[in-house]
Amino acid sequence: MKVFISRDIPAQGIELLRTEGFEVTVWQVDRPMTQPELIENAKQNDALLCVFSDKIDKIFLNECKHLKVIAQLAVGYDNIDIAEATRLRIPIGNTPDVLSEATADVAFLLMLAASRKAFHLHKTITRGEWTFFRPKANLGIELKNKTLGIFGLGRIGTEMAKRCKGAYQMDVIYCNRSRNFVAEELLQTRKVEFDELLTQSDVLSVHCSLNETTNGLFDKTVFHKMKRTAIFINTARGLIHNEKDLIDALNERVIWGAGLDVTNPEPMRSNNPLLSMESVAVLPHIGSATIEARNAMACLSAENIIHGLHSAKLPYIVNPEIYSR
Ligand code: DGY
Repeated sequence: MKVFISRDIPAQGIELLRTEGFEVTVWQVDRPMTQPELIENAKQNDALLCVFSDKIDKIFLNECKHLKVIAQLAVGYDNIDIAEATRLRIPIGNTPDVLSEATADVAFLLMLAASRKAFHLHKTITRGEWTFFRPKANLGIELKNKTLGIFGLGRIGTEMAKRCKGAYQMDVIYCNRSRNFVAEELLQTRKVEFDELLTQSDVLSVHCSLNETTNGLFDKTVFHKMKRTAIFINTARGLIHNEKDLIDALNERVIWGAGLDVTNPEPMRSNNPLLSMESVAVLPHIGSATIEARNAMACLSAENIIHGLHSAKLPYIVNPEIYSR
C-alpha cells in the first residue's frame, strides 16, 4: 500500500511505515504544496500524512474519498473539514500529548520574555544601544503570586499552569466549556466565566482549538475588559485573536504586553508593528519544535497510518464516530 507525506518529516516516522512494507513518497520540494499538487499526489496513494497548513477541505476530500486514512502531524486540525471526512468515513488522526510539554514551554518562554521585554532588549544590544545603567530603564514586571488565566484548560494548558504554579506560585483560573476536574485537583484551579477570566488574569494564556466560537474571539472588546497590566499569550492559533485589535490595544496601553507563537497571517510580515514593541515577544509557530516532540509526532502519525491501512481503529482519532455507524 502507498503512503504520501506532504512535508519532509523526521526519519523515524518514515522508517516505521517502510518497515511495515508500505511504499512511501515524501514531498521533497522545499515549499508548501498547492492544493492541486496535494490532490494529484493523494490520488495516487492510499493514505496521506499531512501538516496543519495543508487544506483538507470539501474539495480535497471529495476528490480523494478513496483515502483509507489521513494522519495529521499536529494536535490541531482546523485545516481539515472533519464533518465532511466523517460523512465520507475517512478516519482522521492527530498527534496529541507528545507535544504538550514542548508547547507549554513556549507559552512560558513567551510570558517571561514579554514580562521582561527580553526580545526588545536583545535587539537594543545588536543595535549598539547598550550604554550605561539607568535605574528606571528597561523595567519589566514580576510574575510571582500573580493570576494566570487559562483559556482552554486541556493538556497544553495544564502543562503551562504547572510551570507557572511551580515557578511563581501563580493562582490559576480557567475558562472551558466543561469542568476539568483532574486539573482542578492537581492545580487547585477553579473554572470561571469568560468575563471573570478577562478581568482577573495578570497573564491570559490561550490554549483552545480554533473553531467557529473561538475564531476572532480576542478582539477590541475583549482586550478592553482585561487589566491594563495584563499579558496576552497565544500559542494556539493566530486566528483566535484579532491582530489589528491586539496592536491597537498594545499601542494604546489597554494591555501591557503579548507573547505570540501564532500569528495571523502566518508567516508574519517582517514589518509588523508587533515586532518592534517593547513588551511583545513573537516566535514563528515553534510550539512543538523540539527534536523529541517532532520525532514522537512523526511516529504517532505513522502509527495512525499503519492502523488505518490495516482497517484498525486509529490510536489517536479525531472522528471516532465513523466506527460506530
Ligand atoms: C499543532 O500541533 O497543532 C501545532 O500548532 C503544530 O505543530
